[in-house]
Amino acid sequence: MEIPIQFPTVPLSSGHNIPVLGLGMSHHGGYSHNALLYALRSCGIRHIDTAKRYGNEELVGKAVSESGVKREELWITTKLWPGDYGYDKATQACLDACKRLGVQYLDLYLMHWPDAHVPGKSSREARAETWKALEDLYYRGICRSIGVSNFLIHHLEQLKEDCSVVPHLNQVEYHPFQRPQELVNYCKRNNIVFGGYCPLAKGQALTHPLILRIAKQYGKTPAQICIRWSIQNGVVTIPKSTKESRIQENCQVLGFILADEDVCTLNSLHDGRHVSWDPTNVL
Ligand SMILES: NC(=O)c1ccc[n+]([C@@H]2O[C@H](COP(=O)([O-])OP(=O)(O)OC[C@H]3O[C@@H](n4cnc5c(N)ncnc54)[C@H](OP(=O)(O)O)[C@@H]3O)[C@@H](O)[C@H]2O)c1
Repeated sequence: MEIPIQFPTVPLSSGHNIPVLGLGMSHHGGYSHNALLYALRSCGIRHIDTAKRYGNEELVGKAVSESGVKREELWITTKLWPGDYGYDKATQACLDACKRLGVQYLDLYLMHWPDAHVPGKSSREARAETWKALEDLYYRGICRSIGVSNFLIHHLEQLKEDCSVVPHLNQVEYHPFQRPQELVNYCKRNNIVFGGYCPLAKGQALTHPLILRIAKQYGKTPAQICIRWSIQNGVVTIPKSTKESRIQENCQVLGFILADEDVCTLNSLHDGRHVSWDPTNVL
């Protein structure tokens, strides 16, 4: 039997190590039980990225338990939806997420989005209050690492002023057309690991002529080039697929290295486009 790949990990300031490649989960309706089982059993995937918002935590929990992979070998990230912001609601939401996933602890819990609608509070105040709940969940060991998603520099600066624990990771859109280098540099300076979502630009990157040319040159697929590029730029990446053959393909990214000039060519494709949501206007 083929030995599944072991993906390298990236150290977080919490002291834990996140696998550099994870499997993204789909929103309602797009979830595939068989694909997740296949990823865990046959591709060496040990990092799963989900969210309450995706509506599949319970199904992920079932697949994990059916896979036979030990809990301690897995990295499970889930996310807190803004409707659950506020100290008490966030604490309860985390406990509920653990229950749905069938786990005693989360490897990483993220505030999903910087905007917050808590009556009588500014977004900044609501974020700080919510983050304090995550800090306490971290101190209690229920969340082994805590972080944020879609936070820009000003959101992170405010959090730093208002709270004690600097987020261990910030998960942001990242693909050849969306490479927010200032934010990447800020995270690096502040010891925040940069997690990138939509590494294939939801498929848009897979037909770009330059990416096709580089893929041909290396004898790889456009998806493998995009994923490899994220990893070489030091970004934790979570491509999503519900198809077994594509998950297999997306995992075959360790046996080659992109030359610096090709990384630079891919870097030059940044045009600021978002294929997901854009937090620029969130105060
Ligand atoms: N924090 C946030 O706010 C946030 C926002 C968006 C996404 N995310 C996370 O990031 C993950 C990935 O993002 P995403 O799904 O939006 O975008 P993505 O990973 O860039 O692209 C996924 C799309 O590409 C297709 N695909 C995957 N592998 C392929 C391959 N090898 N060849 C051709 N097509 C391929 C998939 O289709 P099939 O499934 O049909 O293969 C799907 O349509 C999500 O699952 C989620 O966990 C987080």
